Amino acid sequence: MKVMVIGSGGREHTIVRKIKENKDVTEIFVLPGNGGMAEDATCVNIGAKDIEGMVAFAVENQIDFAVVAPDDPLVLGAVDALEKVGVPCFGPNARAAILEGSKVFSKNLMKQYNIPTAAYEIFDNMEAALTYLDTAPIPTVIKADGLALGKGVVIAMTREEAKDAVKSMMADKIFGASGDHIVVEEFLTGPEVSVLAFTDGKTMIPMVSSMDHKRALDGDMGLNTGGMGTIAPNPYYTEAIAKECMETIFIPTMEAMNQEDRTFKGCLYFGLMLTPNGVKVIEYNCRFGDPETQVVLPLLESDLLTIMQHIAKGTLAEAEVKFSNKSACCVIMASEGYPQKYETGFPITLPENNETIYIAGAKKEGDAILSGGGRVLGVTEVADTLAEAIQKSYATVETVSFENAYYRKDIGQKALAAEV
Ligand code: AMP
Ligand code: GLY
Repeated sequence: MKVMVIGSGGREHTIVRKIKENKDVTEIFVLPGNGGMAEDATCVNIGAKDIEGMVAFAVENQIDFAVVAPDDPLVLGAVDALEKVGVPCFGPNARAAILEGSKVFSKNLMKQYNIPTAAYEIFDNMEAALTYLDTAPIPTVIKADGLALGKGVVIAMTREEAKDAVKSMMADKIFGASGDHIVVEEFLTGPEVSVLAFTDGKTMIPMVSSMDHKRALDGDMGLNTGGMGTIAPNPYYTEAIAKECMETIFIPTMEAMNQEDRTFKGCLYFGLMLTPNGVKVIEYNCRFGDPETQVVLPLLESDLLTIMQHIAKGTLAEAEVKFSNKSACCVIMASEGYPQKYETGFPITLPENNETIYIAGAKKEGDAILSGGGRVLGVTEVADTLAEAIQKSYATVETVSFENAYYRKDIGQKALAAEV
């Protein structure tokens, strides 16, 4: 069986490794992938947004199954295009991917179906937004409607900052058309939990919970990044909270999408905040999170490809989805300077056994693998306890090296403190 994975980061490397475990798989292609994955899959130089290119490749190479991992191609309709030529896919179609593609859509959906989320106002007129901000409660949160490379959210501590954010989105168009509409949202507080869930629109199976560390520096300081590390399970996510989420958020979201004739199939990502007034949705993503995937999938004991195939067929209820009771920790090693300016092209030294090192940004040159991105790789270790997983991950980090490597030293510390 020939499988194609769309995307290029650490999330995709994790998915590729997991799919490789399936005995029926003869070949895995990754479009475009990166040089650090070349031992696990054949990298094909077709970009993740080149939908025509991926369709042509799938037809030509008689691909049996495709996994579309990143947000952009999902929102652009990669699944629709691949299914049209008869390639079964894992991932939502464009009608369902709008759950991530438009914050205006997702906020309105939550309001209409009573799914708990931050109170909000929507604006398509800058003057109206600025007037509203004269009296709105502060701090406040400004969000661009569309995809913005994960940078479209501004937490404004003052009215000035809030207005500046609105102007840069709506007048200066720093995110292009994504800023045509904006959401101004109530500022919430509380621990954050990421829950990824498998769903085919009929059945909803949450995976083990996780915690991301989005800020660049220790102690949650510095700029927002794509994620500097993750742990799973998230100790804040108790059984009682899981039950509350299933009843008030997960199932209602699946049913709301069905009602809207936008049945969601794939991995639905719930970004949650455990506020003093109950659990609220901070954001939906229409895909596996990165780097949440690097701790969640290593704990999956069942066969990932089989689950994905069941979802594509609408028979998720028949799939075995089992997670281990262990804990996982992923430490991201980035290029010094990320998420702003950084240098790449430095040789990466990896330990011989690197089955749980997921390469996010690298290129291959001869036999060498060179750093090739802001986030270069993620080091994941699994152990019986969270404390051990953290300790093991940092021990492995010591065996990986490249010039200008930067990583946070405190991944998992907040979670450890919450355990006791
Ligand atoms: P996002 O880019 O949607 O993942 O948001 C980035 C981060 O902004 C989230 O992980 C939260 O930490 C924070 N955030 C988003 N919305 C809110 C909110 N309404 N209140 C407080 N923090 C928020
Ligand atoms: N880790 C957050 C995301 O994938 O969007």
